[in-house]
Amino acid sequence: MKSLTADELRKLYIDFFVSKGHKQISGASLIPENDPTVLFTTAGMHPLVPYILGAEHPAGNMLTDYQKCIRTGDIDSVGDPHHLTFFEMLGNWSLGAYFKKEAINYSYEFLTKYLGIDPDKLSVTVFAGDGNAPRDEEAASVWKSLGIPEERIFYMPKEDNWWGPAGETGPCGPDSEMFIDTGRPACGPDCRPGCSCGKYFEIWNDVFMGYRKDEDGSYNEMARKCIDTGMGIERTIAILQGKKSVYETEVFTPIIARVEELTGRHYGDNEEDDISIRIISDHIRTSVFILGDQRGVAPSNVGQGYILRRLIRRAVRHGRKLGIEGSFLSKIASVVLSLYQAPYPELKEHEAFIYDELAKEEAKFSDTLAKGEREFEKMLPNLMKGTSRVISGRLAFKLYDTYGFPIELTEELAREHGFSVDVKGFQEAFQKHQELSRAGAEGQFKGGLADHGEATTALHTATHLLHKALSVVLGGYVKQLGSNITAERLRFDFNNPQALTKEQLKAVEDLVNEQIQKDLPVTCETMTLDEARAQGAAAQFDAKYGEKVKVYSIGDFSKEVCGGPHVEHTGTMGHFRIVKEQSSSAGVRRIKAVLEK
Ligand code: ALA
Repeated sequence: MKSLTADELRKLYIDFFVSKGHKQISGASLIPENDPTVLFTTAGMHPLVPYILGAEHPAGNMLTDYQKCIRTGDIDSVGDPHHLTFFEMLGNWSLGAYFKKEAINYSYEFLTKYLGIDPDKLSVTVFAGDGNAPRDEEAASVWKSLGIPEERIFYMPKEDNWWGPAGETGPCGPDSEMFIDTGRPACGPDCRPGCSCGKYFEIWNDVFMGYRKDEDGSYNEMARKCIDTGMGIERTIAILQGKKSVYETEVFTPIIARVEELTGRHYGDNEEDDISIRIISDHIRTSVFILGDQRGVAPSNVGQGYILRRLIRRAVRHGRKLGIEGSFLSKIASVVLSLYQAPYPELKEHEAFIYDELAKEEAKFSDTLAKGEREFEKMLPNLMKGTSRVISGRLAFKLYDTYGFPIELTEELAREHGFSVDVKGFQEAFQKHQELSRAGAEGQFKGGLADHGEATTALHTATHLLHKALSVVLGGYVKQLGSNITAERLRFDFNNPQALTKEQLKAVEDLVNEQIQKDLPVTCETMTLDEARAQGAAAQFDAKYGEKVKVYSIGDFSKEVCGGPHVEHTGTMGHFRIVKEQSSSAGVRRIKAVLEK
């Protein structure tokens, strides 16, 4: 096996697929655009869902990229040697260009010839078949044609060998996962790829996107079949480098070294410290990517901002556990920045925001953390006397409300003392106090993928009109800094030093409604980003490779680089009304607006 670094693997993979006729595209933001139902991009395919479902991709039908991903599902498992919240995924896609045979052949060639993996150590899984889709003899026979013997091809059920949809509905299909046999003895007669004993190490997943799961739960074959693959960079370099854990690879060792410097502890000496060191390293790394994203957000009590707050506060708490006094997040964040600024130049662009927000959040929480912990510990002797090992919802709420402890942090603190928390009681107490609750954020996270319904489509077009209207009314300096659309409303963040006056708001509203009444046609053209810029199109699109982009024009009024979808004519949109204009952060204003029929 070739011992590759993350930088080397990223390049080798992309170059390989480019040499096979794929176009390299830019990875997308970590924060899905116009997708109210998921908080973060969780896989390379996520930004490509509209194209897998049939839309034409401007860069063609064979694509490859590296994508920033965050999976927060098992955030609480971070601390062990394997879990990460942020990771990078390499992927290649066929949008109807090729299917199983070519995809598996590419995978095999890359694994054996480019990564130097011994073919005798490869095991693969394929779908065993069920009422929705047949047993995947096709994939199995491709593997056999490449020399993988029958006994190393495992047929597995839907729980193991079906990927997607990423949300409730959308593209999905049977997959074929590739594993390296580490040579360790099997843990028992049922040990097979996917077993958690550590014998098999998953390295790549080829998904045969042939189905679409619909709202009624049915699986329907798609006319055009696609390929979606995913290889996690951190995991893969760990196995290539013969490391037991992702935390021992070069994307973590400099971060851990900085934590060691700051704490005087040594990674590997004792498990309890190691857990804290890994939590600090993972959480600050992820926080840097959320803050430094092209659509970065600040810590808050909802949505992505709440996840960010949890990550930062948990890192602060573990820093204190290891004895760090004073502020330390930025000192670790700077290591993350220097590790990743080449592949992710947006981090450097947002450097000041990253450091400012980390410092603010750290200061806010440091003040109350020690007091909250003391409050908790004061209660302990009393709680120990009772038989119940449950922390009441009321106490959990007090820690949240008074000391800024996210509930998950209280749960962790409780666990460390052998207690659990009455989370339901906490939520009841919480809901009494606040309408906009974390439950909303969690619900959002569990939800499905982009809702390209009528309401969100019209609001998306309204966002373009608003953007242009703001630059007409306020000045050409107005730039979009964020956008979020639900079925009910749009939200738009932009730069402006002060609040808008009543007159300005009315002028913006009127201008938008005028365009709606004119029933302007919405048209779409494909061109390179440079051409789009030359035509004066507004663009936040993160294109780096001269790739083609879609440009949407609304009559002669607005022109923007955007993935769509949009209404065909503005006349159907309804009446545009601004419901709120407020400050979002220093120099940033936020408008919420609705369309009324
Ligand atoms: N989308 C597939 C995954 O995330 C490739 O594993």
